[in-house]
Amino acid sequence: MALKIIEHGSDDYRRMVKLRDDILRKPLGLNFSEQELEDEKKHILIGAFEDDDILACCMLVEEDPSTVRLRQMAVLNDLQGKGIGRALMNFAENIARDRGYKCISMHARKNVTGFYEKMGYVVSGNEFIEITIPHLQMDKQL
Ligand SMILES: CC(C)(COP(=O)(O)OP(=O)(O)OC[C@H]1O[C@@H](n2cnc3c(N)ncnc32)[C@H](O)[C@@H]1OP(=O)(O)O)[C@@H](O)C(=O)NCCC(=O)NCCS
Repeated sequence: MALKIIEHGSDDYRRMVKLRDDILRKPLGLNFSEQELEDEKKHILIGAFEDDDILACCMLVEEDPSTVRLRQMAVLNDLQGKGIGRALMNFAENIARDRGYKCISMHARKNVTGFYEKMGYVVSGNEFIEITIPHLQMDKQL
């Protein structure tokens, strides 16, 4: 498995968007707008690949000079629970550290907070609804 930064607009980016659509949006009856995808040019796009096939992805979005927000974390359904999510998180955290960020924050889906707790993230505040489902704020100091 190769972990790498994805260039916006590339073939790998198109594979990433399809993965996110399949895992994160279609099951909720939602999709991505052109504007939403265009805005991703500014973000750090990350993927796990086996040759040309994408296995997992996530994105880092700057919130302020010391904090990035983790978004769009997804592992292919058949490959979940095999350590790929952990490897991708470690890679994303190293990139964030290398770029000088001190904290990663996120709006985590409530049903997967156990995964992020294993990665050292801590819940704060109350549950809220985003894209129709319950979420919690989680953070980790790098
Ligand atoms: C959540 C997700 C990213 C985790 O990735 P993964 O590759 O399945 O997780 P890993 O195999 O690396 O698991 C690492 C550890 O977290 C645990 N874990 C994984 N998913 C979990 C969950 N939903 N709840 C509690 N613990 C979980 C694993 O048991 C493992 O623990 P261990 O190291 O003690 O054995 C992945 O399952 C996924 O894409 N889910 C669907 C999309 C989604 O909900 N994305 C998150 C949006 S906020």
